[in-house]
Amino acid sequence: MPSSEASAARSLRLKRTHNCGDLRKQQCGQEIIVNGWVHHRRDHGGLIFIDVRDRSGVLQAVFDPAAAAEAHARAGSLRAEYVVAIRGQLEPRPAGSENPDLATGEVELRAQELEVLNPARTPPFAIAEEEPVDENLRLRYRYLDLRRQRIQHNLELRHRAAQATRQFLTAEGFWEVETPMLFKQTPEGARDYLVPSRVNPGKFYALPQSPQLMKQLLMVAGFERYFQLARCLRDEDLRADRQPEHTQIDLEMSFVRREDVLDLVERLFHHIWQETIGIELPIPFPRLTYREALARYGTDKPDLRFGLELVDLTELVKDCEFQVFARAVSGGGEVKGLCAPGCASYGRAELDKLTAFAQEHKAKGLAWMQVKERGVESPIAKFFQEQELAAIVEAFGAKPGDLLLMVADEPPIVAESLDWLRREMGQRLGLIDGQAFAPLWVLDFPLFAWNADEKRWEAEHHPFCMPHEEDWDLLDTDPGQVRAQAYDVVINGIELGSGSIRIHRRDIQMKVFKALGITEEEATDRFGFLLEAFEYGTPPHGGVAPGFDRIVMMLAHEPNIREVMAFPKTQSAQCLMSGSPSEVEPKLLRELHLKLDLPENE
Ligand code: AMO
Ligand code: AMP
Repeated sequence: MPSSEASAARSLRLKRTHNCGDLRKQQCGQEIIVNGWVHHRRDHGGLIFIDVRDRSGVLQAVFDPAAAAEAHARAGSLRAEYVVAIRGQLEPRPAGSENPDLATGEVELRAQELEVLNPARTPPFAIAEEEPVDENLRLRYRYLDLRRQRIQHNLELRHRAAQATRQFLTAEGFWEVETPMLFKQTPEGARDYLVPSRVNPGKFYALPQSPQLMKQLLMVAGFERYFQLARCLRDEDLRADRQPEHTQIDLEMSFVRREDVLDLVERLFHHIWQETIGIELPIPFPRLTYREALARYGTDKPDLRFGLELVDLTELVKDCEFQVFARAVSGGGEVKGLCAPGCASYGRAELDKLTAFAQEHKAKGLAWMQVKERGVESPIAKFFQEQELAAIVEAFGAKPGDLLLMVADEPPIVAESLDWLRREMGQRLGLIDGQAFAPLWVLDFPLFAWNADEKRWEAEHHPFCMPHEEDWDLLDTDPGQVRAQAYDVVINGIELGSGSIRIHRRDIQMKVFKALGITEEEATDRFGFLLEAFEYGTPPHGGVAPGFDRIVMMLAHEPNIREVMAFPKTQSAQCLMSGSPSEVEPKLLRELHLKLDLPENE
């Protein structure tokens, strides 16, 4: 037990009357107490200026030896990040010393009393400056990093986005239901995080990659409208917009058609954007089918903030003498390209760099043509007849001064390399407005994707998406052609959410499993509880799960998901602050019936 003297010193004698950031001229003349951190300290020989920071903002306090000798003497010992309580009178700043950059810049606190609530070690980086700090250092001291203004702003935005979501969905009749973290494998296609069960030796739970199965069961249960800000765990390779733990605005609805889900999401996004950053997202969002998106942009998540659409030259060049093109087409491939306006002036070095860039993204090469007043200039122009060149220029809608960039290959490689090239040229040419939002729906995803390594079909999304009725017959004959009633919402080239109308009939579900090579026995083992539930009166249902972290990234204009999460992991899935993951004591392993005996590199 602390002594009574020590506990008196620790108690908060000077308890705040106001938040620092709220003080304005109206409160001048009042006695004020603020509590917070020393943000900045300036010692001007006579006067000491302390900027005090709390969550609401910063307030300048002035310590004058003539007015409060003891407080002034104590203020001399203050250092950055000390926790203090200051009592004084709020006054207007002397004329000429106002700070228009600060919300409280017209006033200052004339300190009469100072209490140091806690000293602080010198922080490893300055909290008060917004200059870049090594990210590993930031993550190691995340609690200090979180004191910085930019990231506080992001987390406040995140909070407001969460509240806006709850408010909107509640008003739409959704119930928030929590689902278990200790569950069975879910079908999202990443690796699972497994949790050994102590009381069931040799058995494991899987942490949910999403609440997909649970939300469908809630529809069987008659809840009709469910949502959850759901934590989802996936052991997958991390990227700028991927974390091992992420949050989805997971939702599901019964007795709905696709249109109902799309409409709901559009209004939800409109509400979130409006409530958090005051921007009106135009609704309804434009729509593209998966096939159109791939044809026009080379990707299923196109950035529509700029044009530079891809042009298909396959028909035009199939009989040309340029063998790279002609052979690609006769081998079942295609030739496509894009027109970079005003880039005909690119020199050889620049063009070689673009070629190398396309090659980094799988293209075998990059064919280019400079459109000049006097005609097309290109090392490959000699392989084309005049009218062929004219037809190519026309297909691109190109004008003198433009540069044509073309790739010939199998369709997936053409798409991928041109998607990269399109985004690169969009950046280079300054066509992307960093403040703009360009949402769209991508519809009718294929139900299956071919896994070339394992030579089998796998679910493009997950195996519970309802195929289009017209395509049901193709399930047995031509699975690659089956379209799912699945949709993605994309903004600025980032997939913000996915969903689908679900299969609610056991017979269709079994057909899909069969196409995926999942036997009746495996299906029963993995999803038996769901299939059984489907036999007890399942309503038609559908849903969607927008990625909440990615939405906040977008609202905050942050390029990295870590900037909008309180305690993110590094690229190698580590927490630098706590040192997790970490080894555990052998005793714990024994209790879990586990033995680590595989060599590390096996
Ligand atoms: P999906 O797997 O597409 O669908 O995930 C939905 C959305 O969640 C976000 N997301 C992620 N965000 C950050 N880090 C990650 N590792 C990560 N993985 C996904 C994306 C994505 O669009 N159960 C289905 C949804 C449904 O069908 O209703 C699902 O999880 O923004
Ligand atoms: P090559 O015949 O390899 O000398 O290539 C002639 C030109 O065609 C070079 O500019 C290459 O970059 C380009 N090229 C080669 N392969 C491809 C391809 N698959 N698609 C587009 N251009 C290509």
